[in-house]
Amino acid sequence: MKLFLDSADLREIRRAVAAGLIDGITTNPSLLSKVAGPDNAREVLAEICRTVAGPISAEVIATEQESMIAEGRELAKIADNIVVKVPLTEAGLHACRRLRSEGIGVNVTLCFSATQALLAAKAGATFVSPFVGRLDDISQDGMQLIEQIVQIYDNYDFATEVLVASVRHPVHVLQAALIGAHAATIPAKTLHQLMHHPLTDRGIEGFLADWSKAGK
Ligand code: G3P
Repeated sequence: MKLFLDSADLREIRRAVAAGLIDGITTNPSLLSKVAGPDNAREVLAEICRTVAGPISAEVIATEQESMIAEGRELAKIADNIVVKVPLTEAGLHACRRLRSEGIGVNVTLCFSATQALLAAKAGATFVSPFVGRLDDISQDGMQLIEQIVQIYDNYDFATEVLVASVRHPVHVLQAALIGAHAATIPAKTLHQLMHHPLTDRGIEGFLADWSKAGK
């Protein structure tokens, strides 16, 4: 399973790249707004694209079809590994189809139902981003949505990749991998949790304590 970092923070990104564990980056307007504004967003995205070799998702702000397409074309010019994020709306689906026909990668985001994901695949999306955490937040089973989408995509051999998003903790990553999602995009906090198991740390302490007494 591919692991993407859900961040636009270059300090977080560089630390994750150093661990050699991430395959791409996803951003969104909220994440980008923490580190950039309208005047320097392109520069920040360009630096991210230089820092990570994999797909870098950058989201349009426009909500109308033709504006999305124009903005997506501009985002794609930033770097070859840019993937344009569009929301799963009627306009977003039209924009997805047009941008894909021009060879531009598209990540259809803000997906909350399996039927939406079906439309994203029919529109030729490169990735679809179902938001599991936000469904959990309203007492729905976000991972059940992933199971449904993976089953539908397997049924019809769709090329679109399921990119599990809105991940809140390591169990979401575990469940996504067990279900067979293509990828998950995770916050830096979750990546840290995945790398640091308390029993592993305690085991190391025990080994070192015992070894320090060896031969005495
Ligand atoms: O970036 C897309 C998605 O991962 C955002 O998740 O935490 O805002 O629900 P979140």
